[in-house]
Amino acid sequence: MSTPSRLPAAHADLELGTATASYQVEGGATEDGRGPSIWDTFSARPGAIADASDGSVACDSYHRYAEDADLVAGLGVDWYRFSIAWPRVQPEGRGRVETRGLDYYDRLVDSLLERGVKPTATLYHWDLPQALEDQGGWLERGTAEAFADYAEIVHERLGDRVGLWATHNEPWCAAYLGYSAGVHAPGRQEGGAAHRAAHHLVLGHAMAAERMRAAGAHDVGIVLNLAPVWAERPEAADVADGVDAIRNRVWLAPLVDGAYDDGLLRVAPELADPELVRDGDLALMQGSADWIGINYYTPVRPDVAGTSAGDEHPEGGAYPGVAPFTLVERDPRTDIGWEIDASGLEELLVETHRRTGLPLLVMENGAACADDRVEEGRVADQDRIDYLRDHLAATEAARAAGADVRAYVVWTLLDNFEWAYGYTKTFGLVHIDPADQTRTPKASYDWLAGVARDRSRRR
Ligand code: NOJ
Repeated sequence: MSTPSRLPAAHADLELGTATASYQVEGGATEDGRGPSIWDTFSARPGAIADASDGSVACDSYHRYAEDADLVAGLGVDWYRFSIAWPRVQPEGRGRVETRGLDYYDRLVDSLLERGVKPTATLYHWDLPQALEDQGGWLERGTAEAFADYAEIVHERLGDRVGLWATHNEPWCAAYLGYSAGVHAPGRQEGGAAHRAAHHLVLGHAMAAERMRAAGAHDVGIVLNLAPVWAERPEAADVADGVDAIRNRVWLAPLVDGAYDDGLLRVAPELADPELVRDGDLALMQGSADWIGINYYTPVRPDVAGTSAGDEHPEGGAYPGVAPFTLVERDPRTDIGWEIDASGLEELLVETHRRTGLPLLVMENGAACADDRVEEGRVADQDRIDYLRDHLAATEAARAAGADVRAYVVWTLLDNFEWAYGYTKTFGLVHIDPADQTRTPKASYDWLAGVARDRSRRR
């Protein structure tokens, strides 16, 4: 009888890991009864994906998971964070369970454990069954209820070996990029309706956590892309507060305080609708996360519209209810255009610790780099090494300042399907040749393996 992986202990060394997500790496999109997801549908829409690609083959991890597990084991890190594709488990989003889909995750988990790697699973990394979107998707309460059923099914199958569970990954993207900006699946541009999606996502998290706990789970959290929001000038303070409301408070306020604050309700009046926010919802949400996962890449710098040289931003429509503003990206930047500033991660961890008092896990941090070229069998991605080194140091600095941070997980193991950017932007520690799926570890892979080795020697 194995014991499930658990939240890393308080006051122990920072644990290390690397991550992927189902739609970005698995491929096998029609195999073993998997139903279509909103990302299959959205990717087929002309113009939605930069290189007109999709995740139908991706890194072929559905077949090559053992090779992936070897790569993780070769890094010597503690954790592998993967996500489960809901449409593999329930092709219609509710009801019928496809056991062949669950069998895949069984094999993946076992292959990690056999190699001494601890598994952590995310239940929702954006691949909603299309059948649920056809019934309204996250704008409907029924999706949150279906999510809780799905969570219970997955936990029943894997809970003897997986103990560290994330319900959602970056629900800001699922709600606001998906239902307001329209740059992520399902590609809807419905403004303030996205606040409904946000409520249902947190509600789904809370319902799922309750059901999983009733079945014996202990460490159920949620992964958020919270952001340090830095007004570019004093006149931008108001829009910055609106951005903070949607990026940070719409998630933390219900989870921690069990209430939506007044400033948030000014931006999102939808959240005052008693038909949407029913009696008991906020009470169920409060205290429903045992830990908070943080994904950090870049700070967010709002400016007054038209007053700075800030770029037109693809996420511009993602803050419904906030007056028009510009997002400034300062140099230096990564290949995807995101400003590099490791101090933002330190500030975010210290502030989130102060705000929540919960254990924190950095569940994603990484960089898209232009130096990801294979030359003589090697990828010399020094830019990525510099980025990761500085952000790992920022994480340690936050711990030294008292933040209860227990893990640092690098995004990502493999170059993979980067959503609306397709395969044009690469974040991997391992290069993938799309022609034959050859996996070539980059210099950053060797660097992280060295860090893990040094740390385990000291333990
Ligand atoms: C966050 C998302 O969770 C992940 O799927 C994505 O690839 C990275 N950010 C990089 O954009």
